[in-house]
Amino acid sequence: MSHKALSSKEARYLTTPIYYLNGLPHLGHAYTTIITDFMTRFWRLAGHPTRFLTGTDEHGQKIAEAALKEKTDPQHFVDKMSESFKNMTAHVNAAADDFIRTTESRHTKAASAFWRTLQNNGFIYEDTYKGWYAIRDEAFYKEGDIKDGLAPTGAPVTWVEEPCFFFRLSAFQEKLLAFYKENPHFILPKERANEVIAWVKNGLSDLAISRTTCKWGIPVPGAEGHVMYVWIDALTNYINALGYPEPTENFQTFWPQARHVVGKDIVRFHAIYWPAFLMGAGLPLPKHIYVHGWWTVEGEKMSKSLGNVLAPSTLIETYDLDVLRYFVLREVPFGGDGDFSEKALKGRLNADLANDLGNLLQRVLGFIQKKIKVVPPNPKPNLFKAFYAWKEDLHAQLQTMVDGATPSRYLEHLWRGIALGNQFMDTLAPWALQKSDTQDDHDTMHSGLFQLLELLFEVALYLQPVMPETAQRMLAQLGYQGEPIPFDDRSFAITEGATLASPEPLFLKDDTLKNAG
Ligand code: ME8
Ligand code: MG
Repeated sequence: MSHKALSSKEARYLTTPIYYLNGLPHLGHAYTTIITDFMTRFWRLAGHPTRFLTGTDEHGQKIAEAALKEKTDPQHFVDKMSESFKNMTAHVNAAADDFIRTTESRHTKAASAFWRTLQNNGFIYEDTYKGWYAIRDEAFYKEGDIKDGLAPTGAPVTWVEEPCFFFRLSAFQEKLLAFYKENPHFILPKERANEVIAWVKNGLSDLAISRTTCKWGIPVPGAEGHVMYVWIDALTNYINALGYPEPTENFQTFWPQARHVVGKDIVRFHAIYWPAFLMGAGLPLPKHIYVHGWWTVEGEKMSKSLGNVLAPSTLIETYDLDVLRYFVLREVPFGGDGDFSEKALKGRLNADLANDLGNLLQRVLGFIQKKIKVVPPNPKPNLFKAFYAWKEDLHAQLQTMVDGATPSRYLEHLWRGIALGNQFMDTLAPWALQKSDTQDDHDTMHSGLFQLLELLFEVALYLQPVMPETAQRMLAQLGYQGEPIPFDDRSFAITEGATLASPEPLFLKDDTLKNAG
């Protein structure tokens, strides 16, 4: 099936980081995957040819050591661990098109081709590396970076002295700065961009890109004993999964429209090294690097290395998946850190979901069901003026929020519509109009309810990327059964005389909140 035939709109290529396999997935990974899935589903329903890649990063010293600790060989270890990340992707209902593993031959072959291209273009040379290395970060550090024997990230470091290949990162300082200037939205949010620009202005040293002391990696082409430094291996996954170095249709369509979602721990690799590698290889750069903050537990970053993690599977067993998806997208403004608290999650469930959204649906459908039975007529169009004003630029507003990576504002904006609905229902007071004996009052009641159904439909439509299951249940109650509805597909509409099923509560309130302290 050709994507071009489907749509003339620009493509969208969304990626998560490929996760290390030194521990099981936790809420931090689930968060990145959920954000990426939200964006993917939005673009897909907006009619853009869309592709979503995720996967696992399987080489490097950190993995080799984790395997050793489990008394197993690295290949067995990664085969087992990769499954748990695949499962996590499915558990959070992420609609990924592809899952890449860096031990697959499609990846290792392509990474070697990338290396050769950089080498042929004159950006790789051989020398000796002397300096610090932090296995936890899989990163090299300069003497000046080390304080009290630790990297700036707090990771322990070891002294490394080995022959290795270098990438001429220093040659890209001016080019990178010019690129950031011409593309002010390349790194989002803005504060992260400013930080990156400051680092680059501060000067770039050439980057060590091979190891001889770690064996678990992709062999450097033509240099026995060397394996690729894990980041040059890892970053190329994004193009390798599209068929690089072949100029495949996937590569041509999707690569120029790439958007990488990453945590702030790896912004340097994505916003400096990766663009420099791509420039060195003569390839287009991604459109955006979206950098989110960290989930913390009692103020500390949730991390496999630190072992203080919340398992997504436990959270999903305790709460509905869609509630979790809503919570993580709504609770923390993109880019900021968030401390995970069950109290905050239950608060959102009770207030935003059960009270605001669930009740509105219940009130409107419940009244119609009891007093009118079918969808009423709409004799007074444009009665619910605030709704039509809100709806007017709704798509444009929400689209800007997706491309600008502000999911919490997307939800705030959607919830403004829900608030309008609740206010309108209060002032309409259909229970009073129903008792009136004038036709005009009945017309007002009918149109008011009809237009509230239209509002609920609009909310359900744009809730689809956030809470896919809940949106389906809402749509079913409004009389629609079927595939997710593209935003501009109006083949289903609220129609006079249509029968509605009995309303069912969308959410169950959590009444343990009072006792949760
Ligand atoms: O860095 N809060 O893999 P990784 C929010 N393999 N997000 C978190 C998080 C937290 N506490 N902890 C992890 C690597 N994440 C490399 C990436 S990409 C070419 C190679 C998420 O397993 C967040 O997206 O350490 C972060 O950037 C990523 O997991 C790091 O995963
Ligand atoms: Mg990490």
